[in-house]
Amino acid sequence: MSDHFVRAEQSAEFVRAATPLRPRVAVVLGSGLGAFADTLQDATAISYADIPGFPRSTAEGHAGRLLIGTLDGVPLLAMQGRFHLYEGYPLTDVTFPIRVLSRLGVGAAILTNAAGGIAPEMTPGCLMVFDDHLNLQGTNPLIGRNDERFGPRFPDMADCYHERYRSFTLKYGHRLGIPMFEGTYAALTGPSYETAAEIRMLRTLGADAVGMSTVPESIVARHMGMKVLAISCITNVHSGRESERLSHAEVLEIGNRVRDQFAALLRLVIPEIAKDVAAA
Ligand code: HPA
Repeated sequence: MSDHFVRAEQSAEFVRAATPLRPRVAVVLGSGLGAFADTLQDATAISYADIPGFPRSTAEGHAGRLLIGTLDGVPLLAMQGRFHLYEGYPLTDVTFPIRVLSRLGVGAAILTNAAGGIAPEMTPGCLMVFDDHLNLQGTNPLIGRNDERFGPRFPDMADCYHERYRSFTLKYGHRLGIPMFEGTYAALTGPSYETAAEIRMLRTLGADAVGMSTVPESIVARHMGMKVLAISCITNVHSGRESERLSHAEVLEIGNRVRDQFAALLRLVIPEIAKDVAAA
């Protein structure tokens, strides 16, 4: 396989050539949340398939393109669609776009996803800001030879999710009247949803929500010193009792319902993060 650093630089070069904008903030849009990217002004859209070195997206509800535009005057890069372990991609591919973001000069990433609620107070449509994560995918995107140009062999994962970003996100969410929680996200491989027994296990382990993404991207972003904010849209809740049914359609439907609230929250949060990375 070709050198990842060189490959990421090639992808970044292609993206740079497509637009004069140089965003320092990026948002990765999860299942059902992709429509936020349509609110960008003067956006340049680039299909993942056209970017040299990029893997391709296959999941339903994931468009698979990158948009660079401005949001109320702030340059922003939005990824509509991501790569998942359950699609069969190696984690180096899953996290490759995050490598590219860093090569583009992005200093802070907002990672979003759809997740199942485990904490009993959660309801479908609420948002959860990550305070931490449990990597239960049985693997790690940094396994293999370490490239010091990206980051250290043994990166620290304390304060993975930026404390101040978390607190103003919660504050803005409350101000907008969105039901907001802070909690710990457990990443499983999927693609099967969890059994009732697995939910009880996750609850015992300290998980407040469960999903199939984001954690590898957080790890790689932190490996490179990027700041991370991660937000789950809780599309369904688990009681840990048998006989719960869940469909992907339901997940997408709730994503659509909270879309406008989610967009309103991002509109408040992104300028703050842009200010922070500009000052760094
Ligand atoms: N489990 C795992 N992933 C998910 C869920 C869930 O309940 N809901 C949305 N993504």
